[in-house]
Amino acid sequence: MKPLELARRLREEIARHNVAYYLEDAPSIPDADYDVLVRELRDLERDHPEVRDVNSVSQRVGVAVSGTFGEVQHAEAMLSLDNVFDALELRSWGERVARVLGADPEVIEFAVEPKIDGLALSIGYQDGVLTRAATRGDGRIGEDVTENVRTIANVPRRLTATPGGRFEVRGEVYLANDDFVALNRLQREAGEKEFANPRNAAAGSLRQKDPQVSARRPLSFLAYQLVDLESSLSIDSYLETIAQLRRWGFTTARETQRSVGVTAMIGRADWFEAHRHELTYQIDGVVIKLDSLAQRQVLGFTSRAPRWAIARKLPPEERTTRLVAIEVSIGRTGRATPFAILEPVVVAGSTVSMATLHNQDQVSSKDVRPGDLVIVRKAGDVIPEVVAPVPEPGRRRSGAWRFPTKCPVCEGPLERIGDESDTYCVNRACPAQLTQQVIHFASRAALDIEGLGEQRVGQLLAEGLIGDVADLFYLRAADLSSLEGLGEVSASALVSAISAAKNRPLSRLLVALGIRHVGPVAARQLATTFTTYEALARASLEELEVVDGIGPVIAASVYEYCRDEESRRRIERLVEAGFDLQEPREALTGSRSLAQRAVVITGSIEGFSRDEAEAAVVAHGGTSPGSVSKKTYCLVVGESPGAAKVSRALELGVATIPASEFVHLLETGSWNATIS
Ligand code: IVH
Repeated sequence: MKPLELARRLREEIARHNVAYYLEDAPSIPDADYDVLVRELRDLERDHPEVRDVNSVSQRVGVAVSGTFGEVQHAEAMLSLDNVFDALELRSWGERVARVLGADPEVIEFAVEPKIDGLALSIGYQDGVLTRAATRGDGRIGEDVTENVRTIANVPRRLTATPGGRFEVRGEVYLANDDFVALNRLQREAGEKEFANPRNAAAGSLRQKDPQVSARRPLSFLAYQLVDLESSLSIDSYLETIAQLRRWGFTTARETQRSVGVTAMIGRADWFEAHRHELTYQIDGVVIKLDSLAQRQVLGFTSRAPRWAIARKLPPEERTTRLVAIEVSIGRTGRATPFAILEPVVVAGSTVSMATLHNQDQVSSKDVRPGDLVIVRKAGDVIPEVVAPVPEPGRRRSGAWRFPTKCPVCEGPLERIGDESDTYCVNRACPAQLTQQVIHFASRAALDIEGLGEQRVGQLLAEGLIGDVADLFYLRAADLSSLEGLGEVSASALVSAISAAKNRPLSRLLVALGIRHVGPVAARQLATTFTTYEALARASLEELEVVDGIGPVIAASVYEYCRDEESRRRIERLVEAGFDLQEPREALTGSRSLAQRAVVITGSIEGFSRDEAEAAVVAHGGTSPGSVSKKTYCLVVGESPGAAKVSRALELGVATIPASEFVHLLETGSWNATIS
């Protein structure tokens, strides 16, 4: 394609996405894909001066307003930010700034702060009173959203220590993560469509026609710019600006810091990448600004962005790919989870070829169908998920996907129980359930049986050697001779590994049994309270409910489990096989396996919240600081770990151990495997 034609197409496409994003609050592609288009256009315009055009979307900010709200002319243009995508590009930006200033790059003072994924807002104050608030619009003219902004709780309607003069306070309107989850729950309950992400939810909420509706949406505002229209203040730096805004009653980012020199500034930007999921709101990057306002004057602006600031975009957590098929998997409780088979795509640094679709309602409300182009997200601790289909005008879609009525493994009926959103295979003898139960039973977090992994479990079931977890303890080495790839020595090693599990503490067995809602933390509470399985099984519902950390849901589940005929038989057979079913004394007092040791945790560990994992380390005599140092005993690396912590540990030679070793670490203070 000729450069001119290519530029035309890119401009058209970008303009279309701009309308969806800015006016309809319903982006048609992930931000990362949008950034790629813009970058392509800008590179093209840079390399081919003949295609340049002052009206190009690359020279503009946002889009013109829609006409739903009144128009507001900004007293000073609301600009955008230029982007860089990695540390190298950030360094060259920093060095360029230093060159313009004629200064050593390592002495320049930068302010580094989160790039909140919301929408820009400018709020006007006259003699300390809020007079008008407007969205960015095309940068010159925005929409008048004053009434809606008055309903945002942390926007001061009157400034404390009322200053005279005219100001515009600019910042980002956003929804905090928790508020977003709560809002979507309300949407769901009201039968309304859920929002795809906090940014859309915030944009949709701010642009409500009825301020009453806006008022019910838990919006927040974070200030990052002060336009002093009558030059009534004498402020020299950005950090002073932030302090002033705070004194007036605005919320500013707690993480904003000054970094001296390009190297430190890059380090601070990396910090945000490693900690992005610990913030209470979504960020899509880090903003770096010159701290000195005098130096900013020297740098000035382009038509769309300041030269004294830059956005370092973070690796995308959303990408588009093709949905090949939708299938259903059966878990150990029989839950049937639909999942997407995808054309492999790299998201947040790892290749994704499958993603969960959660349940039937999710598939219907998202209306994703095999063959669709879809947005895939992998954020923080969550497993990859399919967010929504991408409209492809002109392509014929397949019919709406229907949830199967039969289990794909045992062909038994799949049923939705009561008002739960999940569907279950109700056949207790379903081989898929049994396989998952045995795998879980033998896993590290449960009874930790060496040599009994997924493949071996599959063989034992296929050969009919076991039909329940209790059967494991009746296997003899001779029974295993028929298993492929298992010699005599390994067969007896497996039998003794299984046998060793009989002496594990009761808390581990409770986890292994897979009682619904009972994870490692609840199991430990129950085991230390009742000390024997017998006492636990005798406990009344009330006695269970009063145990610290055990709510009515867990209590009911345990109570039912203990009275279920099949479970009783299982326990009897375990006892007969020589199972201990007690919580040993050292577990009761909490072992001192980690005495004086610092265990740092990054990413999520199955069965533990972050607080619970840290509390477990402390309960075993250790400490759990937030960062890795020379003194760290080991770093436990969970799902979606922070890259900075891991690389720091590797650099210092601190052991990095997988989350599957965590329970073993707590009990023994040691580990069997490390990650390198
Ligand atoms: S400074 C002239 N700081 O990102 C200065 N912007 O992609 C312009 N944003 O339009 C903005 N967090 O809506 C700035 N800490 C931050 C920000 C931030 C988010 C948004 C803002 C801006 C867009 C540019």
